Amino acid sequence: MNALQGKHIVLGICGGIAAYKSVTLLRLLIKAGAEVQVVITPAGKEFITPVTLSALSHKPVVSEFFTANTGEWHSHVDLGLWADCMVIAPATASTIGKMAHGIADNMLVTTYLSAKSPVFVAPAMDLDMMRHPSTQANLALLASYGNHIIEPASGYLASGLEGKGRMEEPENIVSHLESYFSRTCDLSGKKVLITAGPTYEKIDPVRFIGNYSSGKMGYALAEECASRGAEVTLVSGPVSVKATHPGINTVPVESAREMLAESEKVFSHSDIAIMCAAVADYAPANPSDHKIKREHQDVPVITLVKNPDIAATLGAEKRDNQRLVGFALETDNEAVNAAEKLRKKNLDMIVLNSMRDKGAGFGVDTNKVAIFKADGDCVDVPLKSKSEVAVDIVNEIVKSL
Ligand code: CTP
Repeated sequence: MNALQGKHIVLGICGGIAAYKSVTLLRLLIKAGAEVQVVITPAGKEFITPVTLSALSHKPVVSEFFTANTGEWHSHVDLGLWADCMVIAPATASTIGKMAHGIADNMLVTTYLSAKSPVFVAPAMDLDMMRHPSTQANLALLASYGNHIIEPASGYLASGLEGKGRMEEPENIVSHLESYFSRTCDLSGKKVLITAGPTYEKIDPVRFIGNYSSGKMGYALAEECASRGAEVTLVSGPVSVKATHPGINTVPVESAREMLAESEKVFSHSDIAIMCAAVADYAPANPSDHKIKREHQDVPVITLVKNPDIAATLGAEKRDNQRLVGFALETDNEAVNAAEKLRKKNLDMIVLNSMRDKGAGFGVDTNKVAIFKADGDCVDVPLKSKSEVAVDIVNEIVKSL
């Protein structure tokens, strides 16, 4: 069966030349068995008529907050709840900006703000508008809210220029949606434990030993597992990112010991555990209850003790029907070290990040990894956004179930 069969899709159309392609997109979605409600911005109507769109979708096109002559109010809240997904194609720079900053002055943006479903954004604009820092920042904001950006293609633009800004072809947008929906349920009923972020090991009430981990990779994995139907427990060290999916239960912790305690509470009834946290290997042996003062005669010496290895502890308890995935962040001798950790910690898979790869590792929004499996197989994942890398990692986990 087609993954889009019976799906409720809100198709948002903005005012751009690429709006003519929305007609093809609408036809393809209907042909794939979806029920489509078109929402168009006032500028969108300058490019394509509601008559064409309503004839093809078999539904009146929504554009205004209410019908002027009857006073009938159009509920963006109901539309947002009805949708299994919202696709904004073409998304103009202006609408992308409004979505990023919550400027709800038309039906499309209010529907977007009310949508509980995944949202796909297919930008289309001139290449200079596309690469302008404000457009890029707004797209990054939308991605950080969990929206899916369908990158524009490069080619001939309506302006006569050539470059990146052409809306992705309707067939490819449909493929994006199909692959999204076909994998949405493959983890339903599964319980997933994820550790993420750094741990903070207390020195005194104002200082700690920590690391640069932002938590972004672990949070992207949590969002991916939850969007595929899993019930996720995210045991997270201190980070500034937030989980958005309702299927994620975030358990905040500070130290490695707290992270181990919370992970042990859920591991025995988890199907999958992904150890993405950058756990501090050592903690101060005797954290001070009072701030250590500078006026000390001697430079203080902090004695460290070894922290528990959470992945190895869970690895020792693992049952045959559970999958345990680790990460390895290495600066040298990467593959050998990763393989050694896989074996020692009794993992089924280890995701290797090399600090030598540009765009990979702590803090950045992208990652480049290699996935080593216990059976000796290895999958290379090229540089991509952390959410896209999360899709590839979860695909490999699903294959191993
Ligand atoms: N890990 C863990 N608990 C620890 C240390 C690491 O659960 N105390 C997990 C990490 O979440 C990761 C894997 O083990 O999935 C490897 O972490 P890494 O820091 O790369 O390796 P270490 O075992 O700490 O070894 P080293 O720091 O010497 O490279």
